[in-house]
Amino acid sequence: MSKSYHLADRIQQLQPSAIRELLKHSKMPGVISLAGGIPSAELFDKEGLAQATHNVLAQDVNDAFQYGLTEGNIGLREQLVDLCQQRGITTNTDQLLITSGSQQALDLLIRALANPGDVFVVERPTYLATLQVLSLTEASVKSVGSDEHGMIVDELEDLLATTKIKAVYLVPTFGNPSGTTLSKERREKLVKLAAKHDFVIIEDDPYGAISFTEEREKTLFQTAAEMGDHDSVVYTSTFSKILAPGLRIGWIVLPEWMKQKVAIVKQATDLHANSLSQSLVAAYLATGRLEPQIALIRDAYKQKCLALSRFMKEELDEHITFNQPQGGMFLWATFRYDFDTTQWLKQTLEKGVVYVPGEFFFSDHADKRTLRFSYATATEEQLHEAVQRLKAAL
Ligand SMILES: Cc1ncc(COP(=O)(O)O)c(C=O)c1O
Repeated sequence: MSKSYHLADRIQQLQPSAIRELLKHSKMPGVISLAGGIPSAELFDKEGLAQATHNVLAQDVNDAFQYGLTEGNIGLREQLVDLCQQRGITTNTDQLLITSGSQQALDLLIRALANPGDVFVVERPTYLATLQVLSLTEASVKSVGSDEHGMIVDELEDLLATTKIKAVYLVPTFGNPSGTTLSKERREKLVKLAAKHDFVIIEDDPYGAISFTEEREKTLFQTAAEMGDHDSVVYTSTFSKILAPGLRIGWIVLPEWMKQKVAIVKQATDLHANSLSQSLVAAYLATGRLEPQIALIRDAYKQKCLALSRFMKEELDEHITFNQPQGGMFLWATFRYDFDTTQWLKQTLEKGVVYVPGEFFFSDHADKRTLRFSYATATEEQLHEAVQRLKAAL
């Protein structure tokens, strides 16, 4: 009798991440990659990381190599309380859960919240890997449009008139892929809607610290707290973009009602985040080098972003329009006319440039004229060359 083996239906449907597939091409010799959301390794604070490693090995070996608490290294959580406070988020060590990057934070939160059929709302466009996490649940995904001021909260309000929503996921500051920031008015309205309609806001903030100006919007977490709402918003952030992604250290600020159960989901997943990485991040923060390091990254990405924007204006303006990013790592662009950027990738690859076609960032109503460029890793010369090659591929 022949055996037939079957994966679970929801697993059978999974598609490989388009970005990970593309990254294979980006490694080909001579190809300039504007595709991956990868921080520039040249900016890693190698000296600071070496110092932190030395300090861990000298002072903290037992904890660094031992099992730890599911909630995370207490010293690191204490430092995170201060880091959150600098971002306007008042919290305490009990509310913090250290995760294996914010990707795990999203997985834990979505798994903790999603019942079959629950409606999760995302932005259009949204972060691709959150769509992947959602596809592993039996939740239903709806999207709400966005413009240069972020998610169009009025559209969400319209949806609420007919639909019970469990959670809204968004990257409100220097979004991936859109690069946009949700305006103050929309932040306030979103938070009010959450309180009125009992939905959870998952605020994903990997890029908020990488601002090109001194202007800051308050986080949704702070916006809600100032309205006396301590239950609606769950905040997650990461050291991936401001320190080093290979450490895989992120964190969640959890409302009281969620914290215990989300910690149990984490426990069932991997017991706790990597002890050595947590010790390293704690030791790094103790050196006081994070602030100057963030300043360095902000300045470097700002210069690259301005350079790419200028080259695009000079060379591609009649074809492509874009919002000028004020922070983060991404420039989101749209063809001025009907165009398929997924098809175009074959041509640009022949010329030696990769980007991410926009359609992968949509859960529905994909706009094939869109595409995402990351300016973080290429040099200014490479950005210039990339734009020339894009032009030649048209
Ligand atoms: C919006 C967003 N959320 C989450 C992540 C995951 O980051 P990490 O798991 O490295 O902290 C990324 C990484 O690119 C991202 O862009």
